[in-house]
Formats: sequence, structure tokens, C-alpha cells
Amino acid sequence: MGMYADDDTVLRWARPDDRDALYEVCLRTGDAGNDARHLLQHGRLYGHLYAAQYLEFEPSCALVAEFEGSVAGYALGAVDTEAFETRLEREWWPPLRLAHPLPGDGTDLDRHLIGQLHRPVRTPPAVTDRYPSHLHMNLLPPLQGRGIGRTMMTTLLERLAEQGSTGVHLGVDPRNHRAIGFYEHLDFTRHGDDRIVLFTRRL
Ligand SMILES: CC(C)(COP(=O)(O)OP(=O)(O)OC[C@H]1O[C@@H](n2cnc3c(N)ncnc32)[C@H](O)[C@@H]1OP(=O)(O)O)[C@@H](O)C(=O)NCCC(=O)NCCS
Repeated sequence: MGMYADDDTVLRWARPDDRDALYEVCLRTGDAGNDARHLLQHGRLYGHLYAAQYLEFEPSCALVAEFEGSVAGYALGAVDTEAFETRLEREWWPPLRLAHPLPGDGTDLDRHLIGQLHRPVRTPPAVTDRYPSHLHMNLLPPLQGRGIGRTMMTTLLERLAEQGSTGVHLGVDPRNHRAIGFYEHLDFTRHGDDRIVLFTRRL
């Protein structure tokens, strides 16, 4: 049973068989919050980079929203970013690098994302020392603007705090004005205005 429900929407913790839906939601929100399907030949690259590993390695912090019976949104967290990134380096990236050798193929964006599989950015200790956890949240259009993002954020932050976290960070594409407004409204602190906008919040 879900932890929240209305006529058409249910929130619940993720299950292993949600994997393909996470890939789909990630792809359909990959272009600064918008559908990225037309930009890629390899549609699963976004999910490899930003979604599926959370279900694999941090299932207790993987929250999904079902809309009319199908998963159409998620909030995915990692309690200890440093340990999570170390584990990705050992277990997650190696087979993906073999499947997508450099310099990569496909569109410019495919090749850019393949480059990220080979050279993922490690989060600096200056961030993780104070904000050890991180998260990603993506909802398809039918779920947006209904208070579901706020409910999912509250639920996930509570779960991260229960697991001992003292702070959370996340990165946003500077073109994604909607998400930037959302995180500012939810009392996240904005740092800089770089290639990625960093947001933090103490727990
Ligand atoms: C960004 C996103 C997660 C926000 O979730 P949402 O469910 O649409 O937002 P909610 O309806 O829960 O809004 C929560 C609160 O934030 C406010 N808010 C939302 N967007 C806002 C904005 N751009 N500026 C100011 N306030 C905003 C709402 O008014 C609401 O306020 P209230 O609860 O005090 O009444 C969601 O729209 C989404 O997934 N978009 C596409 C994918 C994406 O961009 N993900 C982020 C990648 S970093």
C-alpha cells in the first residue's frame, strides 16, 4: 500500500521492477526538466548516469510516484555520497564503460553522456563534509505542480535523516528555472551559478 494517495496518484518506496520506469522518467525529464528523447540515440544513458544505480545500491531511499497505475516520478537519494561514488567506481561504471567505449557514438549529447560514464565528477569533500547526502527528483508533467514534489521531498529528507544524515546537496541545470524556484521555495540554499547550480540543506 502507498504512503500517500489521491484519486490518481500513489507514493510508495521503489521495488526492483521499477527499474525500467526510472530509466523512462529520467529520459523524459533529462533536458533541463524536459523530454530528452529526441536528443539521444542511446535512450538509457540518462538513467545509467542519474537514476538506476540508486535503486540498485540505495533502495531504502528510492521513492516513486505512480500516476494512474504507472510510475511517473521519483525521488532518489544516497545517504553517504562519498561511499556511494566509491561503490559506483567499483561496481557500476565498469560494465557501462565496456558497453560504451570512448569516444562514444550517436548524437553530440550521447557522446557527452558517454564521456561522463568514463569521467564521472567526484563530489568534493568541501560539499560532502557538511552535506553528505544527495538526491535527484523528477516528475513527468501529469504529476507536476500538484504538491507532490514537496511531499516526496519531505518524505525522502525524513528518511535520510533517520539514516543519520546531517545534510543534503543536489545539482540543477542552470536552464531549469522551474526546479531552481522549487528548491529555493523549499528552503534550500543556492551556491553559485556555475555549469551546475548547487543547492544544499541541513537536516
Ligand atoms: C521541479 C519539480 C521536482 C517540482 O515538483 P512539483 O511537484 O512540480 O512541485 P510542487 O507542486 O510540490 O511545489 C511545491 C511548492 O513549491 C512551489 N514552487 C514550485 N515551483 C516553483 C517555482 N519555480 N518557483 C517558486 N515556487 C515554486 C509551489 O508553489 C509549492 O509551494 P507551496 O507548497 O508552498 O504551496 C517537478 O516539477 C519536476 O520534476 N519537474 C521536471 C523534472 C525536473 O526538472 N526535476 C528537477 C531536476 S534537478
